This record gives sequence, C-alpha cells and structure tokens, in this order.
Amino acid sequence: MSDLVFDVYQNAAQWVLRRIPESLKPTVGIVCGSGLGGLADILEGEKVVIPYGEIPGFMKSTAEGHKGQLVFGSLSGRPVVCMQGRFHCYEGYSVSQATLPIRVMKLIGVKSVIVTNAAGGLNSNYKVGDVVLLCDHISLPGIAGKSALVGPNITEFGTRFPAVSDAYTPRLRLIAAQSWLESDYLINDRKLVLHEGIYGWVYGPSYETRAECRALTSLGADVVGMSTVPEIVVAKHAGLEVLAMTLVTNMCVMQREPNAIEQAKLLREGKELITENVVHPNHEEVLETSQLRAKDMQHLVKDIVSRI
Ligand code: 6GU
Repeated sequence: MSDLVFDVYQNAAQWVLRRIPESLKPTVGIVCGSGLGGLADILEGEKVVIPYGEIPGFMKSTAEGHKGQLVFGSLSGRPVVCMQGRFHCYEGYSVSQATLPIRVMKLIGVKSVIVTNAAGGLNSNYKVGDVVLLCDHISLPGIAGKSALVGPNITEFGTRFPAVSDAYTPRLRLIAAQSWLESDYLINDRKLVLHEGIYGWVYGPSYETRAECRALTSLGADVVGMSTVPEIVVAKHAGLEVLAMTLVTNMCVMQREPNAIEQAKLLREGKELITENVVHPNHEEVLETSQLRAKDMQHLVKDIVSRI
C-alpha cells in the first residue's frame, strides 16, 4: 500500500538539494547491494555524505553489510549519487518505504538508475562470482499484491497502470554488455563472467526451500533475491532508465534431500547412508563472495557510467 504522499518525497528531495552543490547534482543513481557499498568509496573529487537518518522521511537501514547513507560525488566525471545500503521489505518496511530513495532520486534530477544486488544462483550454468545483467523479473510478492504502486496513484511520478515489460532499459543493457565485452583490461585476475537473466523476487528473510528453488526455476527465474524488484517498478513508473545487475554470491540448493524411507531401508540392509555435500545459503557466504567480486563490479559500473 502506498502509505506515503507526494509531499514526503518532495520534502526529502528539497532537503537533499539544499545540502549538495549544483556541481554534484546527480543524473545517475546507483543502488549498492549487499557487500557492494565499496562503490561509493571510489567516487572521485568532492563528496557529500548524508546518513539516511538525517533526511526527513527516510528510515534507518538495518541489514548487515549495508551502511545507510547517500554519497554524492563523481564517477567517470559524472555527478552520481550512491545509495550505500538499501531498505528491504523483510526489515519490516512497506514497499513504498523501501522504494522512497528511488523516487527522491527522480525528484533531484536523476535520469538513470543502476541497481546492484547479491542473489542466489538458480540457473545451473551460473557459478558463484558471476554477474547477471537483468532483463526481466518475476515478482512473486508483486503478483500477490505487494507493490509500491498499490493505493492512490501519485500522478506526479507516473501513470496508474505502467508497463513494466520494458523496465530493464535495452539501451543500458547494451551499454553494459559492450562495457563487459571490452573489459579485459579492467579485470586483472580472471575475466568476469556476465550472463543475461531473470530475477525472482521473494520477500525473505529466510532463504528459499529446495522445493521453492525448483519452483522458481520452473517459473523461469535464473537468480533469486530479496530486493531490487520494488525499486525497478517504482523507477519505471517514474520514467527512469534502469540497469540492474546481480552478483551471484551462492548457488541455491536444488536437489531433494535423501529420502528418509530409502535411508531406513539402507540401514536395515546394513548399507551406508547416502550423505550429501551441500552448502546451505548463509549470509556469511553472501558477504564473502560480494567482497571478493566487489572490485570487478565497481570497475564495470564505473565504465558503464562513462558510457551512459
Ligand atoms: Cl540463495 N536467496 C535469496 N532470496 N536471496 C539471496 C540469496 C538466496 N543469496 C543471496 N541473496
């Protein structure tokens, strides 16, 4: 339910605009996902850092690996704003609260948003550390009514029934793909693997069951995560260009558990039990991988910004 009225966004935007010099007024907004907040640290030149807690209407971000501030600066010579930390619905924020910064970005003059996240890999061709350029999503909560656009439409942002069938701006996806293709020189150890794929949004905070992972796969999702989709929908509603990239931080457990009945039969026959060797999703692995790959993502985003 859209529990925020236009004035809330407008007040936040006006307050922020008063805090930054004209030269730092951003045209590109970047949302830094779990462990990817380092992007804000590579901004060049003069910087303005504003903790979320100071901005009227903003909430505090509670997720571990997220700092909770807006960082204004330059990247590839362009004024950008980084969200170092985002709001997730699993923290208890409404969908409109979680997407408030995107609408504030729109009001301060941002034209394109780059949204990054960490997510679990469902597609068996993916590996931990790969990056996925998102071309579409499956919003399970959205289909069931959890959308920031539910409630009175805020016409200052956009239309009542926005199309999201072209939310992942083709122009930006092409730029990202070109940047990656030409990026050998950027990444010294091994070439970053880039896929294009579909993000399945789940509410969280528990990771998915094995059966849910198989269900998501059969629905057509390539990665699964707990963020990004609300931001994309709100950005598209407001007419922003969108680029979204996922870092695969762990692979989802897809195979069924050893069948207990079969195990009991094996025991009765004096045979060995079937053991499995799986890594269950955990936040430590997510943060570890994103830290390992953070530099590559930073280079990619920086190069993309130079081409936008
Ligand atoms: Cl496996 N699932 C979800 N929902 N979010 C994640 C993830 C998995 N890995 C990183 N983020």
